[in-house]
Amino acid sequence: MTDIMIYVHIPFCDSKCFYCNFSSFVCGEDIKRQYFEKLNQEIVKNTDKNLNVTSIYIGGGTPSCVDERYIAKIIDALKTNFSVSKDAEISIEANPCSLTNEKIKSYLKCGINRISIGVQSLDNKSLKTIGRKHSKNQAIYAIKLAKQIGFKNINADLLIGIPGQTYSKLKRSAKLLLRQNITHLSAYMLINEPNTLLTRLIEKGGIKTVSEDECVTNYNKLTKYLNKHGFVRYEISNFAKDNFECKHNLGYWQLKNYLGFGVAAHSFFDGFRYENPSSINDYLKSNFEYTKNKLSEVEKIEEYLMLGLRTIYGVDITNLKMLGYDILKQKDKEINFLLKSGFLQLNNNHISVNSEHFGVLNQILLKLLP
Ligand SMILES: C[S@@+](CC[C@H](N)C(=O)[O-])C[C@H]1O[C@@H](n2cnc3c(N)ncnc32)[C@H](O)[C@@H]1O
Ligand code: SF4
Repeated sequence: MTDIMIYVHIPFCDSKCFYCNFSSFVCGEDIKRQYFEKLNQEIVKNTDKNLNVTSIYIGGGTPSCVDERYIAKIIDALKTNFSVSKDAEISIEANPCSLTNEKIKSYLKCGINRISIGVQSLDNKSLKTIGRKHSKNQAIYAIKLAKQIGFKNINADLLIGIPGQTYSKLKRSAKLLLRQNITHLSAYMLINEPNTLLTRLIEKGGIKTVSEDECVTNYNKLTKYLNKHGFVRYEISNFAKDNFECKHNLGYWQLKNYLGFGVAAHSFFDGFRYENPSSINDYLKSNFEYTKNKLSEVEKIEEYLMLGLRTIYGVDITNLKMLGYDILKQKDKEINFLLKSGFLQLNNNHISVNSEHFGVLNQILLKLLP
């Protein structure tokens, strides 16, 4: 049996937030019905009972904005067509506006055991600035509901750098989230993506951004605050209580095999990358014959370094050697310098970035890439 992780993309949202350029659309029921039929066909086409599924991630878009029966059917199709491990981590992304009692019950019933709720902020003014449709109280209620009905592993997403956000507002959001006993927190730096309303408003001068320096300072302060409360930053943007690290994301960063189903999903299998169509119409028309791209040896080394060094576990020197890169030999001067100056650590045959220096990861990478 070969281990595999599965990602399923649900490209629907109830409304488009001002900052987001993810592959997500506001659509009617007919498109949703067609999409789930197609997803089911794609899963059946890839059927392989010799694949042992260690994690499933239902992401989006907003999976919670569709009828829960669609989600249950997808999970069922995955269990029928692959060998889903008994202890597989099965995550779903949800938005506070669409998460209901019935949906949470249905998710738990079909085996979903981790829920990731898009909170972004617990400051009503910040939520309005970025076009979120829920309030602080609705977000807190969604977490409470998930916990009360039975989720034991709950993540909340927060954004750093929302226009007008001060550290005290950010810390207050984090503090309120910790009071809800969440087990995982993802804190993303807000990226001003092209073709979003937020970026257009900023360019017109209607909205003032938080400076990059201030974002980094707030991020570092938040990291200290979360550490003090038992959350370890195990990856640049991810904090978890002991044993609650997201297995699925860790797998991506460790270059494990994964299959992606749905529009705009990617797969990585046996050194090959596949990319599904990014337009929903193309996906609905497709016969699932996607082009394969084999990663070159150098690309594999680069990916392994770039993803692995984002985590506190770093990269395995022996794995790098097997990929044809003897990093200790080929970069001895750079590594000695980075070790002496405290940017890198060398433990148990692993090289990792000292997490205090995650802010300069790109500069460190430039020194280590082949
Ligand atoms: C698929 S969404 C989460 C679920 C749901 N759609 C929601 O927003 O409530 C994944 C996360 O990506 C992050 N995200 C989206 N656009 C971003 C941007 N421009 N910069 C940084 N993070 C972003 C948000 O924190 C969001 O919660
Ligand atoms: S942030 Fe989430 S809810 Fe908002 S548009 Fe993006 S995917 Fe949809």
